[in-house]
Amino acid sequence: MSQLHVIDHPMVQHKLTIMRRKETGSKDFRQLLKEIALLMGYEVTRDIALEDIEIETPICKMTAKQVSGRKLAIVPILRAGIGMVEGLLDLIPVARVGHIGLYRNEQTHKPVVYFCKLPADINDRLVILTDPMLATGGSACDAIAMLKERGCTNIRLMCLVAAPDGIAKVQSEHPDVNIYVAAVDERLNENAYIVPGLGDAGDRIFGTK
Ligand code: PRP
Ligand code: URA
Repeated sequence: MSQLHVIDHPMVQHKLTIMRRKETGSKDFRQLLKEIALLMGYEVTRDIALEDIEIETPICKMTAKQVSGRKLAIVPILRAGIGMVEGLLDLIPVARVGHIGLYRNEQTHKPVVYFCKLPADINDRLVILTDPMLATGGSACDAIAMLKERGCTNIRLMCLVAAPDGIAKVQSEHPDVNIYVAAVDERLNENAYIVPGLGDAGDRIFGTK
């Protein structure tokens, strides 16, 4: 069973509350999402491997730490996942970025794929898949399946707000994928929106409604 990490750091929770408020405009919403992504990135990368290297400071030689092992890729689910990329790149500037385009059909709520462009060596990378909203889990599960079809074996899912349904679906279809969220909300409404949630993340980031 995959692990669920709820990142309850006070700064993350405070920023999320501002994002949830309906009066928060796109500019602030985007900025806060970027800041939260960076903070969540600390937890998502907490256990990545380090190795010893020999360096020289202005004072003397020493054995210091550097990140070793698998290279990283950040893969946002379009559109809303894009809002988490910049914050993660501030933390991991050498990461490659792939994109998976999915939208939910408004009637069926099922995801429809319209774009996929990934680094050629994606199968060799630790993938951080980003999407602020994990509602039914359909989009995340399809995106994870697309990554696995391309040989990815180490995928972490980073979301902002999740519904219990979405978490359960990812855990049952992809038990190897650990999930990182800032909040687990109550439920989905009849339109498969998260309650209380924060509304439509893509529209709030890009000001499209
Ligand atoms: C939203 C959100 C997720 C998806 C979550 O995207 O960003 O990708 O819905 O819902 P699910 O868990 O039920 O699949 P949307 O389809 O609205 O597209 P957008 O990001 O382009 O607005
Ligand atoms: N997508 C969103 O943007 N918000 C939700 O609450 C559910 C799906």
